[in-house]
Amino acid sequence: MKTILISGGGGYLGTYLTQELLKNYKVTVYDGFYFKWLFKNKRKIKYNNRLKFIKKDINQVSSNDFKGIDVVCDLNGIPNDPSSELNKKYTWNVNYKGRKKFAKIAKNCGVKRYIFNSTCAVYGYNKKIVNENSITNPLSTYAKANLKAEKEIYQMKNKNFKVNILRNSTLFGFSQNLRLDLVINIFVNSYLEKRRISVNGDGKQWRPFISLTDVAKIYKLLIGDEKYPSFITNLVAFNSTIKDLALKVIKYFKGSVDQVEFNRENKDNRNYRTKSINLRKYFKSLKFSSFSSEIDKLIKGIKKYKIKSDTSTVRMKFYKQKFLNKN
Ligand SMILES: NC(=O)c1ccc[n+]([C@@H]2O[C@H](COP(=O)([O-])OP(=O)(O)OC[C@H]3O[C@@H](n4cnc5c(N)ncnc54)[C@H](O)[C@@H]3O)[C@@H](O)[C@H]2O)c1
Repeated sequence: MKTILISGGGGYLGTYLTQELLKNYKVTVYDGFYFKWLFKNKRKIKYNNRLKFIKKDINQVSSNDFKGIDVVCDLNGIPNDPSSELNKKYTWNVNYKGRKKFAKIAKNCGVKRYIFNSTCAVYGYNKKIVNENSITNPLSTYAKANLKAEKEIYQMKNKNFKVNILRNSTLFGFSQNLRLDLVINIFVNSYLEKRRISVNGDGKQWRPFISLTDVAKIYKLLIGDEKYPSFITNLVAFNSTIKDLALKVIKYFKGSVDQVEFNRENKDNRNYRTKSINLRKYFKSLKFSSFSSEIDKLIKGIKKYKIKSDTSTVRMKFYKQKFLNKN
C-alpha cells in the first residue's frame, strides 16, 4: 500500500482529501494545524490506523519526514489573494520558499510523484478564456509566490520524480474544516442564515469553479496510475458570472430573485474564465459531480457541525489575528 504525505492536509481541501485517500492508502498529514477539526478528531476518522500527523511549520521540514513516502500532495500556505497581502514577507516565505524547500527535500528522499496544488489566480485579470498555454499574469502576492514556486518545482521533474501542477479554480463543497469565504459556500450559508444573498458589484464578473469532490477524484486518478507523466493543468468544472451563481443558489432553494441584493459600491474587479486542455486529455473518465448534490452535502454538513462564519472559517479573519498577535 502506497503512503501519501499531504502537506497542508489539515485545511479545507486537505481534511476532505485525507479522508478520501485513506480509503486506499496510508496518509501522513504534515501541517501546522491552524484549523483544528482533523487534528482533534483523528479517532472519529475511518481507517485512522493508517493516518499519521506531523505537526510542524512548513519551514521546519527535514528528510526524516519523507521516510517511506511515495507521493506528496502539497496544499500548504496562505490560500487566497487578500490574506496574502496582510504580510507579504510571510507569504513569500511560506508559499514560495517553504513549498520549494519541501519539494527539494522530497525529491532527494526518493519521493516518486509530487502534486502541487496551485491556483488559476496565476492568470490574473483576463477578458479572454485562459487555458494552460495562456500567458500568466499574477497580480496578488499569493498568485506571484505560487507561480514562482510552481515554475521552480516543475523544473525539478525527471523520470524518477514526476511533478503535476494543478491550478485550481475557486473551490466549493463540504469539508469538516469548512471555509465560509469562498463564494458558493458564502451564498449557501447566507441563504441558510438570512434568506438573502449579497453580490459584490453588479455580479457580471466571471469565475471558474470546481468542487472538493471532483478535485479529490483527480488526485485519486493521478496517484492510482504510475504512468501519468509530469504536466500542468487547470482544474475547472464550470465558469459562471457571480450573478448567475447567486440565481442558481436561489433556484436550488426555490427562492425568489428579489432575495439577491447587489452591493454596488463594493465592486469586485477580479474577472476571469478558464478552460483546460489537459484535464480532458489526462482524465477522460472524469465525470463532474452535480451542483445540487454538492449543495445538498454542504447544507447537511453546515447544520450537523453547526458551522459559523468566524476565524476558523474565514481566512482573512484568521490571518489578521495571527499576524496581529505576532507583531
Ligand atoms: N480553496 C480554494 O478555493 C482554492 C483555490 C485555488 C487554490 N487553492 C490552493 O489549495 C490549497 C488548499 O487550500 P485550502 O482552501 O484548503 O486552504 P486552507 O487554508 O484551508 O489550508 C492550508 C493549510 O496549510 C496549513 N498551513 C498554512 N501555513 C502553514 C505553515 N507555515 N506551516 C505548516 N502548515 C501551514 C494550514 O494550517 C492549513 O491547514 C492552497 O495551497 C490554496 O492556495 C485553494
